[in-house]
Amino acid sequence: RRVVKVGLLGLGTVGSGVVKMLRTKQEELAQKCGYEIEIQRILVRDLDKKRGVDVERSLLTRDVRDILDDPEVQIVIEVMGGESGTRDIVLESLLSGKHVITANKDLVALHGAQLHNAADSKNVELLYEAAVAGAIPIVRVLKQSFAADQVREVMGIVNGTTNFILSKMTQENASYEDALREAQALGYAEADPHADVSGLDAARKMAILASISMRQAVPLADVQLQGIEGVTQEDIAEAKALGLVIKLIGRARREGDAIEVSVSPMRLPDSHPLAQVNDCFNAVYVYADALGEAMLYGRGAGEMPTASAVVGDLLAVLRGRKFAAQQQVEWIGRLA
Ligand code: NAP
Ligand code: HSE
Repeated sequence: RRVVKVGLLGLGTVGSGVVKMLRTKQEELAQKCGYEIEIQRILVRDLDKKRGVDVERSLLTRDVRDILDDPEVQIVIEVMGGESGTRDIVLESLLSGKHVITANKDLVALHGAQLHNAADSKNVELLYEAAVAGAIPIVRVLKQSFAADQVREVMGIVNGTTNFILSKMTQENASYEDALREAQALGYAEADPHADVSGLDAARKMAILASISMRQAVPLADVQLQGIEGVTQEDIAEAKALGLVIKLIGRARREGDAIEVSVSPMRLPDSHPLAQVNDCFNAVYVYADALGEAMLYGRGAGEMPTASAVVGDLLAVLRGRKFAAQQQVEWIGRLA
């Protein structure tokens, strides 16, 4: 079998899950895509940090050039987070003909158009299923399965950390602070959890979902957002007494030519399907002209669910037309 070499940027919660999955499923993945997947180098900040997965020290590097300048690395997996520095790295990867998979919603929400243009100019893939709603395959479904339809509305719970916090406060009377600490310990929260609780993380995801489902770029700055920092145990108790549940809801609606996108805490009747979505789970409801209604549900955050979406994208690259075309060009080059 042929070997494909991957450069991994980041070895935190998601990166560790990706390494575990590539190792434990090595043979199964090779059978599915026809390639032995090998991790060539892993970019980290701290070479000596104790990690949740054992990796040979020689794989780790603090110098991104070890990945960007390595012609053997054909695919870059970006799971380090961050925005402007990361944009430069991803852009350079794409422009040098490397396919990129990322879980980074900041990056896609702010620079998606520029990165897509770069990928198209080099005929390489840019995939980011893990960036929205963790393990739920919502990006691919909206881009491909609903391509023939006109999506009118996308609504749902797209942040695992805040849903975990609200669920703990509602079901166990936990304090906001304790629930947030637990979400961090479980690897659900962003490196700066303010992005979760302020609604910004959900706003980034809704900007991405609105743009791909309604086929019109929706800038992050246009998303109206309110987080859960102001939600108190009294608010939750008051809602409960009325048979209501507080959830952080993202909503994107087509209104004539305009697209309205918002994120805010809402009180839902406890019989509402989104009111039943608890823990770190996410759910996305889609309304489209021909399809009518559909709802997707699954784990929205965490090590292995997110890794599953990343590795799914990796298989999609390896089975795709663009990768095959690149292989053919290289093969012809070697013969010439
Ligand atoms: P994390 O646990 O904080 O891990 C980040 C990793 O990237 C760490 O290994 C860190 O190195 C490395 N890193 C960060 N900045 C770096 C830099 N400037 N140079 C070199 N290495 C750097 O984060 P995570 O939870 O895995 O999330 C990673 C990405 O996936 C983020 O974009 C996040 O939004 C997204 N995501 C996360 C989840 C989730 O459930 N956690 C789900 C979906 C998407 P050190 O280990 O040496 O510090
Ligand atoms: N911090 C994010 C969340 C990770 O809690 O949903 C998954 O995108």
